[in-house]
Amino acid sequence: MGKSVLEYNLMRRKVDRNPFQVEVEEKLGRNDDCWCGSGKKYKKCHCSFDDKLDDYRRSGVLVPPRRIIKNPDQMQGIRESARINIAILDYLDEHIVEGISTQEIDNWVSSITKKHNAVAATLNYEGFPKSVCTSINDVVCHGIPSRDEILKDGDIVNVDVSTIYGGYFSDSSRMYCIGNVSAEKRRLVDIAKQSLEVGLQYVQPWRKIGDMGAAIHEFVMQNGYSVVREIGGHGVGLEFHEDPWVSYVCPRDTGMLMVPGMVFTIEPMINMGKEDIYISEDDGWTVHTEDGLPSAQWEIQVLVTEDGYEIISY
Ligand code: MF3
Ligand code: CO
Repeated sequence: MGKSVLEYNLMRRKVDRNPFQVEVEEKLGRNDDCWCGSGKKYKKCHCSFDDKLDDYRRSGVLVPPRRIIKNPDQMQGIRESARINIAILDYLDEHIVEGISTQEIDNWVSSITKKHNAVAATLNYEGFPKSVCTSINDVVCHGIPSRDEILKDGDIVNVDVSTIYGGYFSDSSRMYCIGNVSAEKRRLVDIAKQSLEVGLQYVQPWRKIGDMGAAIHEFVMQNGYSVVREIGGHGVGLEFHEDPWVSYVCPRDTGMLMVPGMVFTIEPMINMGKEDIYISEDDGWTVHTEDGLPSAQWEIQVLVTEDGYEIISY
């Protein structure tokens, strides 16, 4: 039985549980320990931050809940997880070639992950059967590695790696061009990559996340492509999928306020043709373009800092 894309995303917690829900956070005294777990007194930590957030909240802005704001120890834990995630992708850069199966990619990811005493975040996640997602050509995302799927000359493939280490999550993906890829497909891959640079320019504290998404959307449309609407990025770090839901098809000046300590992915899925997608009824996971044209995606994980951003995983 086919699931709707909305059901699919709700199940995978890739949409806001309730974007309008107002979280009631505990009020702290100035000399209490800060809620962020830094061990510092509230007045020396997030006290003025909370006052600022209250002002935004009162003026109707969607502000982040405390549970997604990372303290310095958590940031460090996420960076360590990302170091493994990046090492895996670097290994794939050197080893992915025509003629291997996507199962071989899964084997590599699985063994490098284990060597680092880490766990692949996708394995058994909501029933996902493998340690990595491999999405070729018209597959938009969430492709399942298989012994029967062989990389061919001219393919473009996204490999999406996510790692759990010390309880912290990292998530990023790259595109691989196999052999002689047509100029048309190469351009799609390049624009998908460049769109991240465009988005990054808008990752600044006290700015809304929709500014970033809208900038990516405009850039992609100017280049003649479309952006998948139903699946986007997500907060990540303490869990695999946290708030906020990160859209790349949204108006400017909307969405959650970005603040220091937030960690999320930027991972727009760029289609050569129309934006429409469907989910395979055979496996319940693989997302395809409706028109069968190729799709490309690069994913980075970013931390919002006091004065901009830090790229955590790429
Ligand atoms: N790395 C993917 C993401 O962006 C993983 C999706 S869940 C999976 O969140 F089970 F499909 F892997
Ligand atoms: Co992701």
